[in-house]
Amino acid sequence: MIVCLCNGHNDRDIRAKAEEIGSTCPVTVYSALQGPPRCGRCLDYAGQMLCPMDRERSAEAAASDSRTAVASVQPMPVADARRAALA
Ligand code: FES
Repeated sequence: MIVCLCNGHNDRDIRAKAEEIGSTCPVTVYSALQGPPRCGRCLDYAGQMLCPMDRERSAEAAASDSRTAVASVQPMPVADARRAALA
């Protein structure tokens, strides 16, 4: 599938070059393909395509942060007093 209309880079070439040079930066990969970005419209998609593990790590980190936030919530003394009064 063509990813970059300006240069005609397709997803297979982009992935293969990224693997070859060890980079997930679309600008670096495009330059290595001898076709640096021109309009830049494809860069977000290319970046997402090259960094699926980064997205997974971000989702895991966000989930971990929310679990930590919930675990750190302390009961309020006023609420405990009200609960005791209602019991
Ligand atoms: S579509 Fe890729 S630089 Fe324009």
